[in-house]
Amino acid sequence: MTQRVLTTRPALPGGGLGRLADRFDLVCGEGRGRPEPAELRTLAAGASGMLCLGNDRVDAALLDAAGPSLKVVALASAGFDAVDRDAAAERGVVVTHTPGVLAETTADLTFALILMARRRLGAARDSLAAGEWDVFRMDDYLGLDVHGATLGVVGYGQIGRAVARRAHGFGMRLLHHSPSTPGDTQDPPSRGVDLPTLLAEADVVSLNVPLTPETRHLVGAAELAAMKPTATLVNTSRGGVVDEEALLRALREGAIHSAGLDVFAREPMGAELSPLVREPRVVTLPHVGSATEATRAAMVDLAVDNILEVLAGRPARTPLPG
Ligand code: DGY
Repeated sequence: MTQRVLTTRPALPGGGLGRLADRFDLVCGEGRGRPEPAELRTLAAGASGMLCLGNDRVDAALLDAAGPSLKVVALASAGFDAVDRDAAAERGVVVTHTPGVLAETTADLTFALILMARRRLGAARDSLAAGEWDVFRMDDYLGLDVHGATLGVVGYGQIGRAVARRAHGFGMRLLHHSPSTPGDTQDPPSRGVDLPTLLAEADVVSLNVPLTPETRHLVGAAELAAMKPTATLVNTSRGGVVDEEALLRALREGAIHSAGLDVFAREPMGAELSPLVREPRVVTLPHVGSATEATRAAMVDLAVDNILEVLAGRPARTPLPG
């Protein structure tokens, strides 16, 4: 009997879904977004594999709805904070993700946010579009330089290093904080420091850590107070790494200069916007770090490869780290 594979989205970039449909009974919901949990559980019944996005909640109820046939949950996402790993392990379900293929694209976006936030480009663009550019004034639209500034990368994995390489090209001085890479690195040249040192010395702090119990609210009131009043915080990892209320207060009190945010504690936001979206000196985007055609297709392809491998009885290409 043909095995059943569930995709939580009916359309995904690239040819990955086609490769699944060629071999399996591919099932999905009707709408464009993720089906409601109850519908998803019904669709999951009897599935051998599931293809999910990073913000799809994969919990014990969903795994149990699939039942003992389920062998693999493949995320088209590097982040895996929405997965109950213990529940998957208890049921012998392999969970995979897509690290690496999105690192450069996400680093590009991180750098765009650094430039936009420090140079206040969003505000300048809005002012132009509103017809306010009437006279050339030397003191209009002033931001802070990126070249020559110090970048502190928190989390020095593939994305963090890719951000650092770009910063090196911009003539920035580099610091990083990462338990897995505590020392200095040469390529790019970066000094490994503890978090307090990084927060005190960096002009730009880039958050590139996964969301785990240890990194939840890693940046809160105390950390923001430790940053320079001229500093910019950029987050392209997960919203939960930052205490958003503390960030809003820090911005309003002038404790830091600006922020660039691609991720939020509550996603997606719909019409109920976070106050950070309208806050001056904050540039916000709807979680588009990996959103290029090539990269999203590569993420789906890798997720599909993982399903194919596991259902063929072979090891997954990119299982979650231990
Ligand atoms: C990721 O891969 O983790 C991106 O944030 C998209 O979910």
